[in-house]
Amino acid sequence: MTAPAASRPDKRPVLSTRQFAEATQAAAILASGGIVGLPTETVYGLAADASNPQAVARIFAAKQRPTDHPLIVHLHNVNQISDWASEIPRVAWQLAEAFWPGPLTLILRRASGVLDAITGGQESIALRIPRHELALSVLQQFGRGIAAPSANRYGRISPTSAEHVREELGDAVDLVLDGGACSIGIESTIVDLCSGALRILRPGAITAEHLRAATGVAVAPAMPAGPRSPGTSNSHYAPSARVSVVSPTHVLKEVEKFHTMGWSVGVLSSIYPSDLPTSVPWLSLGFGINEQARQVYRRLREADHMGLAAIVAVLPEDIGIGHALRDRLRRAAGLGDLSTTIVGYRPSAADS
Ligand code: TXA
Ligand code: MG
Repeated sequence: MTAPAASRPDKRPVLSTRQFAEATQAAAILASGGIVGLPTETVYGLAADASNPQAVARIFAAKQRPTDHPLIVHLHNVNQISDWASEIPRVAWQLAEAFWPGPLTLILRRASGVLDAITGGQESIALRIPRHELALSVLQQFGRGIAAPSANRYGRISPTSAEHVREELGDAVDLVLDGGACSIGIESTIVDLCSGALRILRPGAITAEHLRAATGVAVAPAMPAGPRSPGTSNSHYAPSARVSVVSPTHVLKEVEKFHTMGWSVGVLSSIYPSDLPTSVPWLSLGFGINEQARQVYRRLREADHMGLAAIVAVLPEDIGIGHALRDRLRRAAGLGDLSTTIVGYRPSAADS
């Protein structure tokens, strides 16, 4: 097997002189125990030195996140896996080779010496190399692992722009790097490799089919999520507005329901719902499943800014990243995992 792409000598990210200087500044802040808003291809992260307990504590304080929730450690070179994990199975190297840098997080057995604050006291560790030039430059210049949960307050929508991070965390961060809008727009796929099987804990841009094609290993059914996987709890990814997910044919009926309750309501969908009253704002997701993923959190945020009490959301198609998008919208609606029934939908095989 040839050396995994990410373990060859680091490719220098292509950055302007100014961006490189910003990355240098961010690396210096991290080295002195600070916390930084960091762009990645999925969502913005809130970064700290993963080996510095005080810096990691600042992440939890800024996010107001319970301290037993584990964090993802971000790396820049696949060889760093061995610094953080032990008993690394062959499939982990295969997945790193195939998808890093990229939107895939691997859960492995932790190495000794990893802070309990990072793992939430569990025996496992979450690792990923992000695919964003600015993030990679910070990681390379910093040199070691960077802990980075999504840069939102606990239980809120993940930020997909630097402005969202400032809106969420304000002065609690020492610096926010602006790397533009996130190219994927929802969080990485999380794959648990600790049990000998390959299990998806959180769906994302890398699908079960991608994983199987890269490894030849079928994806095992997910285990019921524990309380320490906040990304898998219903209250996550939720705007302040109440979200109702429906089939395209039920949009008007659902809008009407909220109107009779006296609630302000908007519609989140890819296609403009015909006969939508002009007084009802349309939150357009755009065309194509990848564009819908890029837009979804931005639009949910806009709904909150507009002061909407409710959002009627049409579930995107279950293709590619659409599976993860449907998961996030169901959770925003408080419907939990993929097995719950949606107004106007019969549960399909793909939904179970
Ligand atoms: O795309 C992403 O993954 C973004 C960017 C910034 O990299 N990060 C992100 O981090 O979404 P966070 O902390 O918001 O979500 C990570 C999820 C959480 O649900 C956490 O519980 C889970 O990963 N997690 C972390 N370590 C874990 C572990 N050892 N075992 C199981 N789940 C873990
Ligand atoms: Mg998060």
